[in-house]
Amino acid sequence: MNYNKKTVKDIDVAGKKVLLRCDFNVPQDKATGAITDDKRIVAALPTIRYLLEQKAAVIACSHLGKPKEGPDPKLSLAPVAKRLSELLGQDVIMAADVVGPDAAAKAAALQPGQIMLLENTRFEKGETKNDPELARKMASMAEIYVSDAFGAVHRAHASTAGVAAYLPAVSGFLIQKELEIMGGALANPKRPLVAILGGSKVSSKIGVINNLLDIADTIIIGGGMSYTFAKAMGAGVGKSLLEADWLDYCKEMMQKAKDKGVKLLLPVDGLAATEFSADAQAHLVDGVDIPGGMMGMDIGPKTIALYTDAVKDAGTVIWNGPMGVFEFPAFAEGTRAIAKALAETDAITIVGGGDSAAAVAQLGYADKMTHISTGGGASLEFLEGKELPGVACLLDK
Ligand code: 3PG
Repeated sequence: MNYNKKTVKDIDVAGKKVLLRCDFNVPQDKATGAITDDKRIVAALPTIRYLLEQKAAVIACSHLGKPKEGPDPKLSLAPVAKRLSELLGQDVIMAADVVGPDAAAKAAALQPGQIMLLENTRFEKGETKNDPELARKMASMAEIYVSDAFGAVHRAHASTAGVAAYLPAVSGFLIQKELEIMGGALANPKRPLVAILGGSKVSSKIGVINNLLDIADTIIIGGGMSYTFAKAMGAGVGKSLLEADWLDYCKEMMQKAKDKGVKLLLPVDGLAATEFSADAQAHLVDGVDIPGGMMGMDIGPKTIALYTDAVKDAGTVIWNGPMGVFEFPAFAEGTRAIAKALAETDAITIVGGGDSAAAVAQLGYADKMTHISTGGGASLEFLEGKELPGVACLLDK
C-alpha cells in the first residue's frame, strides 16, 4: 500500500469549505453521557487549528458508537461539539442532522474561520454501506475533503472513503503521522525490527503475526495467546486461555519463522494463579509447563530478562498487546517491564492502539514512546499489511 499521501499542506484550503472526517468515537459514561476520555478530540486539534488559521470553513464529521436504527439521542455528537469548543476556545456550530436541511443550511452559511459539526454520520443508514448518494450529499457541502480519522481508516464507509470520489481528498496531520511512523516501520524499518505481540487471542492476531514474519527480525510473543503456542510445542497449559483450533496455525507460524530466519521468542517462565481475579495468589512457574488447575497470568522474570534484552539493541520496536493481565497489579509486571524497556531503548518505539496504548498510559510511560497509535482495529489492520480504504482513497503525493 502507498503510504505517501497528500496532506492539508499540499492543497490550498484558504477560504474553502472543508469536510473534515475526524474520529470522535470517544468513550462516554453510560449513565450521564459525559465524555470519559477526550484523547481523540485532542488528537484532532492540530489539523482543525491549522484549517481555521488558514481561514477554511470547517465542516467536521464523525461517527459515535454503533447506532443501528437511525438517529439515537444517546449517540448524538453534541457533547463532542461542546468539548471541542472548550478546547478550541471558539464556538462549534452543531448541526441537527448529517445531510438534512439543518446541516445543509448551516454549511451554506458557514464563514471562513468557523467550524461546525455534523450529527453522527451513522445516523444515516447509508454510512456503513458506503452509499454513493450519501457520500455525494456530504461532499456537496464542501470543496475539499480532509481525513484525519485514523481510527476509522479500516472502514469503507461513506464518510471515511466514499466522499473521496467527489472531492479532492488529502490527509490531516494525525493520519500523516501514523502513515509516516507506522508505514515507515513496515516499509523501511530501522533494523533490527522487533515486534512484541501479546493480548489474549492468537485468532485476533493471525494476520499481524503472518505479515510481521515477512518483515521483522525478531518476534516476541506474550499474553494469553502465548499459551496456545506453548500447547502447540507440547507444553502443559493447565486451565490457561487456549484456542485449540489454532494449534496448527501456531505450528505453521513457528515453521515460517524458522524458514525465514526470524527469531521467535516465547515465554520460558511465568506467573500462574488458580483463579482469574485481582487478589489471586501469584505462583511462579519456572519453565513452560503450567500445572493442571492453574492458569497463566503473566510472563515471569526469566522471560522478562529475555524480552527486554531483545529490545535493548533494536532499531525499531512495534508493540501490540499486553504481556499479562496488567489490569491486576499482581500480574502487571511483565507488561510494565516491556513498557519500561521501550521507554529506555534508543529504538523507534511504536505502540499499537487499544489495550497496549491503555497499558502504556496506565503505567505512566506514554510520553516516552516515539508513537502511540490512535487506532485500535485500524492499527491492527495496518500491521496486517491490509489496504486501508480510508487511506487508499486519498490522493497520492
Ligand atoms: C474505533 O473506535 O476503533 C474506531 O472509531 C472505529 O469504530 P468502529 O469499530 O465502530 O467502526
